[in-house]
Amino acid sequence: MDDNKNYFDDDEIFETEVDWWKIFKNPHRWAPLYFIVTIVLIVTCGSYFVTNFNTIFENKHAPMPDTTANEATGELAMKRASLSEGLDINLYYVPSDTLLARGKELYDVNCFACHGTEGDGQGPAGVALNPKPRSFKNPEGWTNGRRIVDIFKTLKEGIPKNGMLAYDFMPPADRFAMIHYVRSFAGDYPEPTPDEIAMADTVHSISLGDSIPAQIPVALAMEKVIAEDSTIKANIDDILEYVGVYNERPGARIFDLVSTDKRKSLEVLSRSTAWRNNFNNFTAIITSNLLDNGFCSVASRLSTRQWATLHSYMAELFTE
Ligand code: HEC
Repeated sequence: MDDNKNYFDDDEIFETEVDWWKIFKNPHRWAPLYFIVTIVLIVTCGSYFVTNFNTIFENKHAPMPDTTANEATGELAMKRASLSEGLDINLYYVPSDTLLARGKELYDVNCFACHGTEGDGQGPAGVALNPKPRSFKNPEGWTNGRRIVDIFKTLKEGIPKNGMLAYDFMPPADRFAMIHYVRSFAGDYPEPTPDEIAMADTVHSISLGDSIPAQIPVALAMEKVIAEDSTIKANIDDILEYVGVYNERPGARIFDLVSTDKRKSLEVLSRSTAWRNNFNNFTAIITSNLLDNGFCSVASRLSTRQWATLHSYMAELFTE
């Protein structure tokens, strides 16, 4: 009988109240707690992810390098495209003290970073280049060659695929100065022949004067690009509004049928004027790149008359 009583009193079987201490002492009874903690974790992480979705993948630790901070050369000066004055090529083909001094001055600003002050190709900016900047002391493996006419070509055109820049904006007289300075790094450069001089004059039009491309400051160029882009945007907003308001016009209805993305369609058309007076260009622009240009395949089922209506309507939108 006593046994029975004990049996029913035993609170390991019947627990009328939660005994926290006992639960604490038996880790296997914490299971519901794990469950709750897991749910809370999932919900917190989930809601953090959802509310910060737009920024969560941004790389906050490696900001874009500030390219304005380490501009080495400063801004380019504004220059009109010009014809350089003709030079007496025979004078400039011979290294003189004046030319060499001018050459060193220019070299120490424009070239040393890659080719090194000693002309050995060990400049600090050349480290990352492959192939390495040429060593002017080593006669082997030149791409264009070591004659004056060859180096003139190198400076005029650059060797873009190998990282050698073009210095076509420099007057030919300065290019000659640098060429002689470069060649002064070693004693074994080929002497110019009369044939070479004549050839250089023909190819690079030295005594007649060569053209020098225009150069505008980088900042101004960027400004222009941005300004052009925003005038296009402003126009397209106007046009879209007009299209929306006068949507009963026959041209507007056809436009509605053939374009799935009117803004994109208008942007594509705004990039060129060649279609405005030319029906074939117009249909070609639209049908050549369906989907990518905002138009859809309905366009290919238009009758010639519908095409004509659409054409004059679109042309009108851009001229108004
Ligand atoms: C940005 C780095 C860089 C700068 C700045 C630079 N060069 Fe170079 N240059 C190179 C590289 C790289 C080559 C190697 C190209 C190749 O092997 O085809 C090269 C090659 C040359 C060559 C040899 C072309 C040939 O036929 O192989 C000459 C000459 C030359 N540079 C002259 C100059 C002069 C003069 C200047 C300054 C006005 C200059 N470079 C500025 C990177 C540079």
